[in-house]
Amino acid sequence: MDDRSDRSRPDEGGSDGDRPDVIIIARSAIAAAPIEEMRAAAAHVLAAGVASHASHASHAFTEQGEPALKERLWERIASGARSIVLVPLIVPMEPSFAIWIGKILARWEREWSREHEQEPGQPWPEIRLAPAPFALPQARDLLAAAVSAAGSHPQPARPPAKREGSIIPAQKRRVLVCHGAPCTAAGASLIWGHLRNVQARRSLRTQGEGMMSAKASCLGPCNLAPVVQVWPEGTSYGGVDEAGIDAIIDAHVLNGAIAEDYAYPADGRKHVLRDR
Ligand code: FES
Repeated sequence: MDDRSDRSRPDEGGSDGDRPDVIIIARSAIAAAPIEEMRAAAAHVLAAGVASHASHASHAFTEQGEPALKERLWERIASGARSIVLVPLIVPMEPSFAIWIGKILARWEREWSREHEQEPGQPWPEIRLAPAPFALPQARDLLAAAVSAAGSHPQPARPPAKREGSIIPAQKRRVLVCHGAPCTAAGASLIWGHLRNVQARRSLRTQGEGMMSAKASCLGPCNLAPVVQVWPEGTSYGGVDEAGIDAIIDAHVLNGAIAEDYAYPADGRKHVLRDR
């Protein structure tokens, strides 16, 4: 996972215990160029005179893009990180970010502890959230530098006069991931990112009867957040986490069967999230 730009100094990927391990996080990136930008941003953390404050710097994504934040955290903790700082490169910063990231970290801590209960040498680290850099007064200098660089910056190309056509996809299944406020607060962005990463990795657009995925506004059963629906059956799934997305893909998307552990029937009765 590591490469030249996010390698720690002075060692080759471990953490030194005193200085925190820094993970710069952005929402999503699929193309190579923005992923490279994130690697460069992580390298800046070490190169810009903050090496005395950080033992390692790397990047991760909270939505689509690899590595996902969970993967990166698992990798850094396994490398010995005992203190991690998350730096959100998110503009604008949505107010619910701190809420859902807190809930997700609590869930991942439980998961990590379950997975490593026999390994006392692998404790869950202290994880702190930094303010978004653009919220700091020093951002003024950066913005001033951006404005003065506009004269030499390559400008966007004009669109061609000829209209491009589009193919209508034949996929049968649609997976909707709710992004209403309660679902967002429960971590919808992360499961959306996990779904999109798995969709790309397993070529799900063209596997079986094919699938598409889309973000949706409130789908209705907010108390079951985060909520996912699979169409054309219209099956609702609640309390969906990464394992839930995997189960929905294997059972429903690829085999047309309900992923029972996460499904809630449309039977006119109130349903409460099951303990997991
Ligand atoms: S916000 Fe997701 S179901 Fe209402």
